[in-house]
Amino acid sequence: MEKILIEGGHRLNGDIEISGMKNSALPIIFACLLIEGECILENIPRVSDVQNALSILKTMGAEADFVDYHTVKINTKSAENNLDFELISKMRASSYLLSCALVRFGRVNMPYPGGCNFGSRPIEQHLKGLKCLGARGGESDGFLTLKCKNNLKSNKISLDKISVGATINMIMAAVLLEGQSVIENVAREPHVIDVIRFLNACGADILHFGSYIRVNGVRKLKGVKYRIYADMIEAGTYIACVGATGGALSLKGIEYEHIRPLRLIFDEMNIKISYNSREIYVSSNNPKGTSMQTEPYPGFPTDLHPQLSALVCYCEGGGSITENIFDGRFAYVAQLEKMGAKIKRVGNTVYISQTRLIGASTDATDLRAGAALVVAGLGAQGITTINNVNYIVRGYEELTSKLASVGGNIKLIQGE
Ligand code: EPZ
Repeated sequence: MEKILIEGGHRLNGDIEISGMKNSALPIIFACLLIEGECILENIPRVSDVQNALSILKTMGAEADFVDYHTVKINTKSAENNLDFELISKMRASSYLLSCALVRFGRVNMPYPGGCNFGSRPIEQHLKGLKCLGARGGESDGFLTLKCKNNLKSNKISLDKISVGATINMIMAAVLLEGQSVIENVAREPHVIDVIRFLNACGADILHFGSYIRVNGVRKLKGVKYRIYADMIEAGTYIACVGATGGALSLKGIEYEHIRPLRLIFDEMNIKISYNSREIYVSSNNPKGTSMQTEPYPGFPTDLHPQLSALVCYCEGGGSITENIFDGRFAYVAQLEKMGAKIKRVGNTVYISQTRLIGASTDATDLRAGAALVVAGLGAQGITTINNVNYIVRGYEELTSKLASVGGNIKLIQGE
């Protein structure tokens, strides 16, 4: 089993190329089931979740391969409704098959999607929305079975919660339906916008109005060449790494607009951020603590909560983070405590006092909790090992080599 080994205390300096956004790549890969002809997708990250999504399409009989290091070619012309249940149950993004397979084949039968274990991952909003469009069926014995006689029908969908996955699923379910669908109470994350831009490039007619999305159905979508956005959560993770170690990084390829909402927090923390067209320059020396709440975009993203908790351990005055999205986001707390963190959870808030963490043997419990241990280890005194790195590689491309290239003493080793 692979491990990450970190010797803390080394300032980071240099350039890091930010990879494509996993949470855009995954829905866009599955959306190819709705598209006639070949799609060339650029800036696709080499992470295990992407490999899984491509394998799911290949099991269905589609062509879905990397044709260059970050470029994928997909043609689903010969795809059939043959789903790989084992792969589906490995990741949350499999939920996008509910719309794409249902629209393509008229029915879908699949296990519950998997994904990082940070509390309950309900799916009732997805089912509610699809039933609004005429789907019938539901869940039983851990399986989701939906079908639609003839076709789904355009309609108005009012989501009860702001959900990235449900928003994207409704867009993909409605895009080929005759007439107009309106989806209310929607998510606005950059990866939602990325999916809309991709589908519109294929001939769709989708407009995001902020709190709702209007979809005018089209008869068909044609294959295109499309480049996905860089990953704002990867960029935010590296900003936390600079905060924990000091130094300065240039993060290349990222849209400043996507991390602008993080600016407020990082400014308060005395972490300097400047930018030009598609490059962000971040430097830090003696960061200050702060308090923040996670919220749907453009609020502070839940996917940066664990990493920021690790950073706040190194900040003057400490601080607190309140998690409003996922009740199970706190598994990282016990791991930081192994490193001497003075961190206390009260309800959905963690209170953190400044302290120099000490390297220890730790375990990644989910993707972003693993990233938090990297932030903690880079700033800690001594050696930190991180086990279960399979969680980390599912969402971060070449994390250790990128950090080593800018002065971090970090490597991926084969464990016993
Ligand atoms: C997506 O998960 C991301 N995953 C998550 O990233 C990210 O943390 C999350 O959005 C929030 O930004 C992918 O895109 C593959 P939600 P998703 O539906 O779509 C509740 C990572 O770290 N909810 O926006 O599953 C839900 O419990 C991963 O890259 C319902 O109650 O998240 C949560 O409290 C982890 N019912 C809130 O909504 C539903 O039917 C937001 O969840 C759906 C969601």
